[in-house]
Amino acid sequence: MSKTALLKLDNKEITLPIVIGSEGEKAVDIGKLRAETGYITYDEGFGNTGSCQSAITYIDGEVGVLRYRGYPIEQLAEKSNFIESAFLVIHGELPTPQERIRFGRLLTQHAPLHEGMNRFLQNFPRSSHPMAVLSSALNSLGAYYPHLATNNHQHDLEHFDEAAAIAISKVRTIAAHSYRVSHGLPLNYPRPNWGYCENFLHLMFSEPYNDYVPTAEVAQALNLFLLLHADHEQNCSTSTVKMVASAGANLFASVSAGVNALWGPLHGGANMAVIQMLRSIHADGDDGTRFIAAAKDGKGERLMGFGHRVYKNYDPRAKIIKASFYKALASLGIKDDPLLNIAMKLEEVALHDDYFVSRKLYPNVDFYSGLIMRALRIPEDMFTVMFAIGRMPGWIAQWREVAANPKLKIYRPRQVYTGPTIRDYVPMEKRQR
Ligand code: CMC
Repeated sequence: MSKTALLKLDNKEITLPIVIGSEGEKAVDIGKLRAETGYITYDEGFGNTGSCQSAITYIDGEVGVLRYRGYPIEQLAEKSNFIESAFLVIHGELPTPQERIRFGRLLTQHAPLHEGMNRFLQNFPRSSHPMAVLSSALNSLGAYYPHLATNNHQHDLEHFDEAAAIAISKVRTIAAHSYRVSHGLPLNYPRPNWGYCENFLHLMFSEPYNDYVPTAEVAQALNLFLLLHADHEQNCSTSTVKMVASAGANLFASVSAGVNALWGPLHGGANMAVIQMLRSIHADGDDGTRFIAAAKDGKGERLMGFGHRVYKNYDPRAKIIKASFYKALASLGIKDDPLLNIAMKLEEVALHDDYFVSRKLYPNVDFYSGLIMRALRIPEDMFTVMFAIGRMPGWIAQWREVAANPKLKIYRPRQVYTGPTIRDYVPMEKRQR
């Protein structure tokens, strides 16, 4: 017999079904609560609300576990790469050799942008934030490929492989072009026989007659960064993608909305905030000691890159990225970085400080990812764009879960209304404040 929960409300008892996930996570299904009792559940910020059932990513934040489609992130980081993991996240299985070749061909085919789109990007003002450009350009893909963006889920799913390849391949080209435009530089064109990460770095940094060819360690550091960001279940941007998708919107419109959610400093903006924090500590001549004291006094200062809504242990992504970081630094010939020294000191102190230990505040992925980006010469306003490139496979996979759900209902939360109760209209001449 399946398990149920018994709820007593206003002397009435109601039996609610229990849903159990494949890793034993338990949820009370409150779908019929309002119809039977008049109550809704209230959960500000959705901290304890499951918005869907999903088969993509598993996180156990208490012990620091992250798996894509059942595969531990540590194994994927060691043995896979971003493109193979993207296929896994999107399609549910690692690709066979034939599937991998086909996927690679689709990505290569869709790497360049339509010339009209290049001109569209070149017309943004030089001062544009690259996240604004990225979001607009991704949405405009629906204008360039209207047959893949019909807002009819059934039809859009029939062309899903092509739309997914376009989103993954072009997000990289758009990102690099937005950087070139903002620096008044000519656009580079993708090289059909270069890998995804090598191509991105070429698009960003090659100059006429001077190709930027990254070392294997540098390309690998970028690969790892993207792989570690490929999905993270129902976070703010992914939930946004799903919310938009639930109304029937196409893939490009939905991921464009995800970019806008990611732009916020509490979400995708934290990696940039870490570097700004480290730079300001350095400029103040502090070794991190004064900053740690300020972060503990509860007056609003926060140790950026520490703490996580889900991880109450070391973020497994932070462990992996930290280990790869030193290889990339050595390959780039960076021996002594004052910001890295401050970061090490902050981590060392915080991991032994009762304030952070008792609140289970550990380094999250952003603590080191900003340093990696900086070492790769990625400008700070592009950090969140890099996160968006990495997160694209997750958004695509999560969009598909919504679009292919035969029982799909539009996402439409309820609220507890706290505004004025009914009152009569007041004519202008009688209004006073
Ligand atoms: N530095 C100092 N104190 C902190 C920090 C921090 N980074 N994070 C949380 N706290 C304290 C907070 O003041 C509170 O203390 P008290 O119980 O005395 O009031 C306690 O820890 C719990 O904090 P919270 O704000 O209730 O925790 P939350 O789950 O709502 O917030 C968070 C999670 C990530 C927004 C928060 O830890 C934070 O602001 N961290 C810094 C920003 C950051 O690194 N963000 C990147 C998140 S990872 C990227 C991603 O996966 O999207």
